[in-house]
Amino acid sequence: MISKRAREVQISPTVALTGKIAELRRQGTDIISFNIGEPDFPTPDYVKKAAFDAINKNFTKYPPASGFLDLKEAVVNKLRIDNGLSYDPKQICVSNGAKQAVVNALYALCGEGDEVIIPVPCWVSYTEMVKLTGADSVLVKVDEKNGFALDLAAIESAITPRTKAIIINTPNNPSGAVYSEESLRQLAAMAVEHDFYIISDEIYEKLIFDEEKHFCIGSISPEVQERCVIINGVSKAYAMPGWRIGYSAAAKPIAKAIEAFQSQMTSGACSVSQKAALAAITGPQDDLNKMREEYDRRRRFMQKRLSEIDGFACDPVKGAFYLLPDISGLLGRTYAGKTIASSMDLASFLLEKANIAVVPGEAFNAKDKLRFSYANSMDNLAEGLNRIEAAIALLS
Ligand SMILES: Cc1ncc(COP(=O)(O)O)c(C=O)c1O
Repeated sequence: MISKRAREVQISPTVALTGKIAELRRQGTDIISFNIGEPDFPTPDYVKKAAFDAINKNFTKYPPASGFLDLKEAVVNKLRIDNGLSYDPKQICVSNGAKQAVVNALYALCGEGDEVIIPVPCWVSYTEMVKLTGADSVLVKVDEKNGFALDLAAIESAITPRTKAIIINTPNNPSGAVYSEESLRQLAAMAVEHDFYIISDEIYEKLIFDEEKHFCIGSISPEVQERCVIINGVSKAYAMPGWRIGYSAAAKPIAKAIEAFQSQMTSGACSVSQKAALAAITGPQDDLNKMREEYDRRRRFMQKRLSEIDGFACDPVKGAFYLLPDISGLLGRTYAGKTIASSMDLASFLLEKANIAVVPGEAFNAKDKLRFSYANSMDNLAEGLNRIEAAIALLS
């Protein structure tokens, strides 16, 4: 009954897991969530106020398909100040979350016969989005031993005449890695030499810790900027995932194609949310800084505590709000006659025995890993890790 393309696309495994957890909660089970990929903080008050004002002023008509000019100008300003990029507002498209911005970019650039290189582990949606365009994903492992850095030699050997684009994500979901300037310069040189595009998903840009700095690949030169689509948004930095505002910045012909797609698919992003996003980007950044400090505290705690648990190998990482420990040391262990053969088995075991929700590495093309989000209160993180430690002790 359904189309070939619909049959090929899988529902996001993280969304499916959220449904299972919601059902267990409805039944009264006290689940601690390490699986959630969204800030646990409320949206800052000044942002909410901008939305109330927009509603009270009846700012409720259809928006322009690619977004309101004031927000696009604010984005241009942000990209200039934070990332050293120069764009015209016409090159910006405001979308329903960074998610739609990535899909738009893929639709604008890729189709049947094209290949898109994706460093893995990667965000669950990239491969399914590529499928939607009819192109093929080419998965290339990152250098796990080197903090999940880009493996440039592996990327170079994956390039073929069909390579149309690469999707990179820094800071990274699920690994928490932040790609170095040097590696991004080398990747950009490859893109120029072999003539492919770079979709750079920078949605976790503001969640970066220690002395680490975010480097935007598009800032290398105007020539590199021309072949980049820069993706960003307000969901993670400003605790606004439900407002659904993201954006893309691209060369004019690509931006025009993105706008055309979006105009036919959604008519643009919610007018009230756009006003809220404008306030977030242009307003005081104190809330953002406070949230980042709190994530940092949790990151340090989680990394230390997870490393103390038998079977978890967890190196420090510098970005986003995730850790991706290696759990291969636990594979093959048993509980009540059942073998833990995969990270999926381990995630199910932790859900049943410890009431802990984590995302199995299979969701990110990383079979021997579990993804932990630390977008949760310190109390919950501490209690959750105690429960995990007790459950792991049951394995033989
Ligand atoms: C790497 C990455 N890109 C994009 C998104 C989507 O962001 P948004 O909620 O703004 O659509 C996410 C959300 O989890 C993500 O992890």
